[in-house]
Amino acid sequence: MKYSIQQLMRNEIRTLVPYSSARSEFSGHARIFLDANENWFDASDGKLYNRYPDPLQLELKAKIERVMNLPADKMVLGNGSDEMIDLLFRVFCTPGKDKVMVLPPTYGAYKVFADINAIEVSYCQLNDDFSINFMRLETICKFINSGTPEAGMHKLIFICSPNNPSGTIIPLEAIERIASHFAGIVVVDEAYYDFSDGSTAISLLDTYPNLVVLRTFSKAWAMAGARVGMAFASHAIVAAMNKVKYPYNLSVLAQKATLEVLDKTDEIYRTIRLTIEEREKMTIALKGFDFVEEVFPSSANFLLVRVVDPDGLCTYLKNHQIIIRNRSTVRGCYGCVRITIGSPDENAELLKALRQWEREV
Ligand SMILES: Cc1ncc(COP(=O)(O)O)c(C=O)c1O
Repeated sequence: MKYSIQQLMRNEIRTLVPYSSARSEFSGHARIFLDANENWFDASDGKLYNRYPDPLQLELKAKIERVMNLPADKMVLGNGSDEMIDLLFRVFCTPGKDKVMVLPPTYGAYKVFADINAIEVSYCQLNDDFSINFMRLETICKFINSGTPEAGMHKLIFICSPNNPSGTIIPLEAIERIASHFAGIVVVDEAYYDFSDGSTAISLLDTYPNLVVLRTFSKAWAMAGARVGMAFASHAIVAAMNKVKYPYNLSVLAQKATLEVLDKTDEIYRTIRLTIEEREKMTIALKGFDFVEEVFPSSANFLLVRVVDPDGLCTYLKNHQIIIRNRSTVRGCYGCVRITIGSPDENAELLKALRQWEREV
């Protein structure tokens, strides 16, 4: 690595003395806790909502490691993977000075968080089939590596795999190529990993200390409402993220709900398999419609579909109380809609409405 993680961090964060919460100063067993100005009254009937949660979520991390086979010592948990993205900006990017790189069309939040943090965004557009354009990226890499931590530089590059909205995988070799060339931090967002063939950049963490991998409980784990996201990285990055995050960033409720869903692995894995089967069935069915021009191969729980009249189709479905996402104005997705794979009944209803639409246009 050209720069150490410490060098890449914002000056303020490198020297930051983190807030020391009551629960981080004492986390063992005791009879009476009078240290955190909590209410002694538990209105939640034994669920302990009157108590602050464990700031480092150690019980939950241990269970995630056991059940999902993911490394607890390289893990940061937070309020959705969105919090992890924002945290990376706050740890590494000095507002008004540093930059980040994204590979569009991709998840829109990277740019939004950059804007909020006053960080300029550079783009390396994906090819028409949503693979990385390496000639373009290597030229850009020379340019983006030209800064320094002191003068300002590209601190983060976001790679979404499977990519939202295309559903395509960025192969690990491509990620390695970027991680070994890029002077900043490579963030691989694997929000949809569980619907893919299973190769993960987490396997590269020991080789590339500048790598961060994001996962979430919102998709395959059916917990979008609980807001639980994960980041995996080298110890230096994990320590910095823990220093900057809100002390109690994952509520007692969210931690409990996640502990509970981790007991339902059979159901979760069955649902993932069913979603993948439905995705394949929907791909075939959608290809049969005259108004469908292309269904892109997907490793996620959605399909990107190029259609003749995306605006008309979305309005028609909306009038039938079926909502899909119009992506037709996004560069690289012209004419496309994104359809989430629903339950078998929901998918059947969608197909029925599409057959009607085909007859009417
Ligand atoms: C690629 C990608 N990353 C992250 C997220 C945010 O996930 P979370 O619910 O964990 O904040 C989404 C949500 O749609 C997403 O598509």
